[in-house]
Amino acid sequence: MMKIVQGDITKLEVDAIVNAANQVMLGGGGVDGAIHRAAGRDLFQACLKVPEVRPGVRCPTGEARITPGFRLPARFVIHTVGPVYRDGRHGEEEKLAACYRNSLSLAAENGCRSIAFPCISTGVYGYPIEDAARVAVRETAEFLKAHDGIEVVFCCFSGGDRAVYENLIKA
Ligand code: APR
Repeated sequence: MMKIVQGDITKLEVDAIVNAANQVMLGGGGVDGAIHRAAGRDLFQACLKVPEVRPGVRCPTGEARITPGFRLPARFVIHTVGPVYRDGRHGEEEKLAACYRNSLSLAAENGCRSIAFPCISTGVYGYPIEDAARVAVRETAEFLKAHDGIEVVFCCFSGGDRAVYENLIKA
């Protein structure tokens, strides 16, 4: 099932929280910074061990990698890298959809019964929240058809983002 909450994803007591990371996957600002601060230095060390697929890239855009959650309430952090939004005509939607699909599959493969997503790519990466939320809900609905026992939480940091998801899911 799908749920919408508003608040800090690092506080959620779910099996996995998803991090809106970058391809280097060693931390950053936004939710990436918040998750690394809350998880502690061990998370940085765990990310360092994730093999680079090419120089400076541990997680290509659209893919996902899993690490323990360390000091977080969540058992796992699933790191995914959303697209940088340009104009919607450079494959952004497909890359964002892949982030949700790959993160959900990785959570299921690791026995997670609950997973929380931030609004991937809608901060620094500039993806319009309405378009991004539609992709998130569409991919999650598709996934839940085959995994109806998993709870997916959309964790919105602002009331505005929460309203966008509520309009989508109520509909
Ligand atoms: N809990 C939940 N959501 C949060 C939190 C938090 N503690 N902090 C920020 N957010 C929200 C933002 O308000 C935004 O809605 O997460 C969403 C994603 O924004 P960003 O964190 O900027 O992520 P993104 O747009 O995907 O850009 C990723 O930013 O921080 C860097 O290293 C990161 O380079 C990467 C880029």
